[in-house]
Amino acid sequence: MPVITCIEDLHRLYRRRAPRMFYDYAESGSWTEQTFRDNTTDFGQIRLRQRVAVDMTNRSTRTTMIGQDVAMPVALAPVGLTGMQHADGEILAARAAEAFGVPFTLSTMSICSLEDVAEHTTAPFWFQLYVMKDTDFVSRLLTRARAARVSALVLTLDLQILGQRHRDLRNGLSAPPKMTLPTVMNLATKWRWGMGMLRTRRRFFGNIVGHASGVTDASSLMSWTAEQFDPQLDWSKVARLRDEWGGKLILKGILDAEDARMAADIGADAIIVSNHGGRQLDGAISSIRALPSILDAVGDRVEVHLDGGIRSGQDVLKAVAMGARGTYIGRAFVYGLGALGQAGVTRALEVIHKELDVSMALCGERDIHNLGRHNLLVPRGFEGDWQV
Ligand code: GLV
Repeated sequence: MPVITCIEDLHRLYRRRAPRMFYDYAESGSWTEQTFRDNTTDFGQIRLRQRVAVDMTNRSTRTTMIGQDVAMPVALAPVGLTGMQHADGEILAARAAEAFGVPFTLSTMSICSLEDVAEHTTAPFWFQLYVMKDTDFVSRLLTRARAARVSALVLTLDLQILGQRHRDLRNGLSAPPKMTLPTVMNLATKWRWGMGMLRTRRRFFGNIVGHASGVTDASSLMSWTAEQFDPQLDWSKVARLRDEWGGKLILKGILDAEDARMAADIGADAIIVSNHGGRQLDGAISSIRALPSILDAVGDRVEVHLDGGIRSGQDVLKAVAMGARGTYIGRAFVYGLGALGQAGVTRALEVIHKELDVSMALCGERDIHNLGRHNLLVPRGFEGDWQV
């Protein structure tokens, strides 16, 4: 295995090995990509407070997310088309997460199905759901999720219509890829990827193809979303889904204190402060900047998690010290997967864990539960003095 020192090493290798279309899909934000960029650069504005001469033995990053034990407060985020980044990608990522002791979240728009992941893992996993117009299909998905030992439903609230990602349009993104001349030329240079894809039968949206009716183009995320996702989603539908599911519920895509209060009122077990990795509302605030006001609003009523911009253990430390109970990595694990398969996801988790653990020690902390605002140097006005 090449020497991997940080997530960026995995990113570079991923860029070389994954087909352009899928690299671009993961690496895009919507429109100008301002929010996509802010998610990472805003983490960079916060500094860590170095402390010395503090006993740093016996450190622990272990904690819980929604009552489940985790080796560190980092879950794998739901990422659409993960099985196109590497053959059987969702199965491999779920196995890496299970071995490491962190939750894996399967996307509705995955290539491997709920059943595929359940069959190849033993730990329960989480399932991310989009609210769709076809309520029978959603009910069947929930039944399948229960049968697959899914232990939490992650309901995404910020993608009822798709934010435009220019590169997906230019590339004609689809799963499996359509064989246009530029795609064929690009795939010709990605022999590892191609060999894996030839060996697997999992090349379509596994949760959907053969399960949903009335889809005109089952290979296109864009047409799927436009046809199937329910633009009339409101809080009463969220409450109905909560009742129908009846298990642990995480609401994803909360970026505003008022929405956070609604989510807490509805009885969610956790919310994810998220702007969908900068892929939806371009111009929205970064997740880490939105976090403090949301914690002020609901931090004592519901677990607050965060995704968006996490590329290191130091970023995890910053989010947790700020008050997040858990974090999610999407791109950071996809880089590992596209670079080195399951071993790459494991490596991404190891890198982040070591960065978190060592940085905690250098901040003078031994237990993740003791992290707090006292560990951070947050620039004055970091949250922004916005006028609503
Ligand atoms: C789907 O969740 C996407 O952001 O493409």
